Amino acid sequence: MKTRLLSRLMTLALLCGISGSWAQETFKIGLILPMTGQSASTGKQIEAAARLYMAQNGSTVAGRKIELIVKDDGGVPDATKRIAQELVVNDKVGVLSGFGLTPLALATAPIATQSKTPMVVMAAATSSITEASPFIVRTSFTLPQCAVAMGDWAPKNGIKRVVTLVSDYGPGIDAERYFKERMQLNSAQVVESLRVPLRNPDFAPFLQKVRDLKPDALFVFVPSGAGAAVMKQFLERGMDKAGIKLIGTGDLTDDDQLNDMGDGALGVVTSHHYSAAHPSALNKKFVEAFKKANNGLRPNFMAVGGYDGMRVIYESLKNTKGGQGGGEAMLAAMKGQIFESPRGQIYIDAQTRDVVHNIYLRKVEKKDGQLYNVEFDVIKDMKDPGKSK
Ligand code: PHB
Repeated sequence: MKTRLLSRLMTLALLCGISGSWAQETFKIGLILPMTGQSASTGKQIEAAARLYMAQNGSTVAGRKIELIVKDDGGVPDATKRIAQELVVNDKVGVLSGFGLTPLALATAPIATQSKTPMVVMAAATSSITEASPFIVRTSFTLPQCAVAMGDWAPKNGIKRVVTLVSDYGPGIDAERYFKERMQLNSAQVVESLRVPLRNPDFAPFLQKVRDLKPDALFVFVPSGAGAAVMKQFLERGMDKAGIKLIGTGDLTDDDQLNDMGDGALGVVTSHHYSAAHPSALNKKFVEAFKKANNGLRPNFMAVGGYDGMRVIYESLKNTKGGQGGGEAMLAAMKGQIFESPRGQIYIDAQTRDVVHNIYLRKVEKKDGQLYNVEFDVIKDMKDPGKSK
């Protein structure tokens, strides 16, 4: 009799212990980023933004302590995949996040699917990424969104003959294709499409070719971190003086580098979802807080992808009472989120799990002695044009 009571009490204690400790158990977020190598600025921006989000919103959500585990993949897909596997199996992270380049996101997608772990893509921007796993949610942007906006703007502004120059991988190929299609639709022409290697590109021979072709404009996509090199060589070769305009997606005039590009960048028009000069009260607060926490560093679009990604994770945790129901429940709570981001209103399309947001046309101008992408037009609530293909 006594032993039965004792064993019942022990079972009860065990049960209470389990549920009590579950509620207090930390919720781990794996954040895999290129902190070294060619895309190190992407890692730095996103980590800083994620830490800022946590500092502003607390590190306990729905009763669970949040632990952010930041890992450097050096921009190498095999490393991203191995790290993701370790984070899921050994650290038992509830969410995988980051992904600074398309190949890094694609390498990890099967792990998200197999382990049913939500994977929040904060940087990579090839249209097809969200189709690589039903567990992917994206808070960055897509290249077709920007390329279509520029393919509409350029012909309306006297730019009829264009050469494209893109990095030769997913996002570059998306940018090239969607820009060209849109130009043709608007009775304008892409006279040559040039592709440069992703790793250590030498732009000189390509720019020489552009000079010889004498287009109205050169349209450029290079990933965050590579824009300054293109700008420098474009100006050194006097292409602007030869009457060739420089246009592109906003990755070219990246806020991380723009202010060091010099006055030669003035007047460059790009299309993108985020500018540090976006004139909303929320963005002003964001930029100020980011700079204050990071020695004056200006946030770029990568930082905003990371900041919004953390918001999506936090809200999903709140809506599942601390992640109850596991990865599938958390994923469901990520779909359809709508909120104001430093970039403007954003929405996670519940069907595609991709980001819907405004695409702005911006021109580089000087404000208070600093170079900024100043928004002058907007295409509201743009879905990824790549999804309807
Ligand atoms: C990508 O690899 O998907 C990528 C990286 C940097 C960008 C845009 C796209 O600026």
